[in-house]
Amino acid sequence: MSNNLLAGKVGIISGALNEKSIAWKVAQRAHAEGARFVLTNAPLAMRMGEINKLSEECNAPIIPADATSTEELEKLFSGAQEQLGGKLDFVLHSIGMSPNIRKGKHYGELNYQWFQQTIDISALSLHKMLAVAEKQDAFNEWGSVVALSYIAAQRAFLDYTDMTQAKAMLESIARSYGQRLGKLKKVRVNTISQSPTKTTAGTGISGFDAFYEFADKMSPLGNAPAEACADYCISLFSDLTRYVTMQNLMHDGGFSTTGISAEIVELVSAAAGAQE
Ligand SMILES: NC(=O)c1ccc[n+]([C@@H]2O[C@H](COP(=O)([O-])OP(=O)(O)OC[C@H]3O[C@@H](n4cnc5c(N)ncnc54)[C@H](O)[C@@H]3O)[C@@H](O)[C@H]2O)c1
Repeated sequence: MSNNLLAGKVGIISGALNEKSIAWKVAQRAHAEGARFVLTNAPLAMRMGEINKLSEECNAPIIPADATSTEELEKLFSGAQEQLGGKLDFVLHSIGMSPNIRKGKHYGELNYQWFQQTIDISALSLHKMLAVAEKQDAFNEWGSVVALSYIAAQRAFLDYTDMTQAKAMLESIARSYGQRLGKLKKVRVNTISQSPTKTTAGTGISGFDAFYEFADKMSPLGNAPAEACADYCISLFSDLTRYVTMQNLMHDGGFSTTGISAEIVELVSAAAGAQE
């Protein structure tokens, strides 16, 4: 269903790696709602080639950029404005990677160089994008930036290791830059805290299946799927949410405000019964 919510709007969508990616669904929805945009991802991800399918489907040019490189981001933002014929109305930051998680390091044995890479890729990249956009005066007034976060920023989830700190910093950068860009250009900056989702980044975390199921059983509405996350992003890019800024917005089926659910009580009781 399309309501032309983004008719006439142009932007940048990062992080579409394959059909499971949240950014992939956002691109499809943005296209259906009438937006034009540039797709971007790290040059390494580009080699997998899947993004070309999305590019064709959405008629969206691709500009590769490693989000840790200010120089590459400068080319991305100037290239996007050139290709789209003007300033930008929206940016999706859908970027996350932890070498420590990839290599299976637990929280007590984190490699600090990798920790810094996690922060650089998953949090500082948002600051770098917004600083580049500011310097290039790349935004139209009432533009909107959305970055994707996870509830581990507020609650301890051991297996999420250093991504926990990265997400806390990401949300903090969204607030600080939201204040700055709000004053400068009436641009809003928000994070969406999404349910566990079966994507490449998500399923790379050890114990993912268990906490996917746990969150699903805890949330009165169940885990929010990637498609619903895309819908939420579209609403934030649209003119219907112009005064929402500097927020971390929970998109989790009610998980974050649930104490315990009947399903979890049942599971724990059954496990206790089995032990007796
Ligand atoms: N999957 C989940 O359970 C979940 C839950 C909450 C939040 N998120 C967040 O959603 C966002 C998107 O992740 P996803 O789940 O769609 O997985 P994904 O693996 O499809 O997307 C992650 C993207 O980050 C890109 N990336 C990594 N390093 C990069 C770099 N240096 N420069 C540019 N891009 C780079 C990858 O190429 C990939 O496209 C991430 O921020 C993730 O932390 C995911």
